[in-house]
Amino acid sequence: MIRIAVLPGDGIGPEIVAEALKVLEVLRAEGLAVETTTGLVGGAAVDAHGDPLPDTTLALCQSSQAILFGAIGGPRYDTLPREQRPERGLLRLRKALDLFANLRPAQVFPQLAAASALKPEVVAGLDILIVRELTGDIYFGEPRGIRIEQGQRVGFNTMIYSEAEIRRVAHVGFQAARRRQGRLCSVDKMNVLESTQLWRDVVTEVHAEYPDVALSHMLVDNAAMQLVRNPRQFDVLLTGNIFGDILSDEASMLTGSIGMLPSASLNAAGQGLYEPIHGSAPDIAGRGLANPLAQILSLAMLFRHSVDRPDLAARIERAVEQTLAAGLRTADIALPGEAVVSTVQMGDAVVHALAQGHP
Ligand code: IPM
Ligand code: MG
Repeated sequence: MIRIAVLPGDGIGPEIVAEALKVLEVLRAEGLAVETTTGLVGGAAVDAHGDPLPDTTLALCQSSQAILFGAIGGPRYDTLPREQRPERGLLRLRKALDLFANLRPAQVFPQLAAASALKPEVVAGLDILIVRELTGDIYFGEPRGIRIEQGQRVGFNTMIYSEAEIRRVAHVGFQAARRRQGRLCSVDKMNVLESTQLWRDVVTEVHAEYPDVALSHMLVDNAAMQLVRNPRQFDVLLTGNIFGDILSDEASMLTGSIGMLPSASLNAAGQGLYEPIHGSAPDIAGRGLANPLAQILSLAMLFRHSVDRPDLAARIERAVEQTLAAGLRTADIALPGEAVVSTVQMGDAVVHALAQGHP
């Protein structure tokens, strides 16, 4: 029995998770033994329990093989004390389960090359994987805070990485590169920041164990530029938490829409959290406008990484491709003048394609 914790969260989270669950239902009807349990997280959990990650939700996640996560946050919660903000729930969950390896693939579906903000000839065939360290860096470094110094407020954070933290995610990056085109580009800011000098040194050391992988290094400002200049030069990008956060949003726009990018966050025990890289989009929540494909593709990643069913992952991905090939577009990926479908219609179309693709 596959145990999946389902945490829809806030904003468009519940709408897109509902579509991914319809996809899961098709597989269950075919005989897949899967058990889902829903939990509260983010603003929804703050409303109910005053805590963005209640103990019951954490326990549910700890006892599950995988977590299907929607999105969290909303303007209503931005003025709460930091510990009660929805984002803290997600960050605590990542840390508590030690989900240090975040995989963010950015692929251009051929049908969407024209929807990219870049010229189709620059992005056609693009297939990159960002491996982002997810439980360290300035996100979690201490000391942090806002204090008064000489009568004025001073805000501070700590950018910090231990070599063990760098080493374990470097292994994930090299192994991913090995399964792909064999090229790893590590991104840092070693010309200014010591913590990222150590990053470069340790990644270089780990490379000795992967002589078959070609390693290069790039400064993050250059990487941000190269991602829009010539994104196809990259195979796997390996980077720390904050740089990975920023570069993955940038990379998403190469694919046409941030509504297309799934992610997997893995720990050493094979547990994983699967979520779209986009946020809760409160401005469009509840209006049927959200693109559910990043969530559905996150479910596909779940089958690849936390359950050893790459066949099911491939089937879901193929169903998404067929749906795009059939011309279905939510507003975020539609070209001017193209007909637009709702969140539910897009989900239904994927379900239909998947059911037809029964082996
Ligand atoms: C992401 C998000 C999160 C992050 C937020 C919601 C805390 O932007 O997953 O990229 O910064 O990691
Ligand atoms: Mg982000």
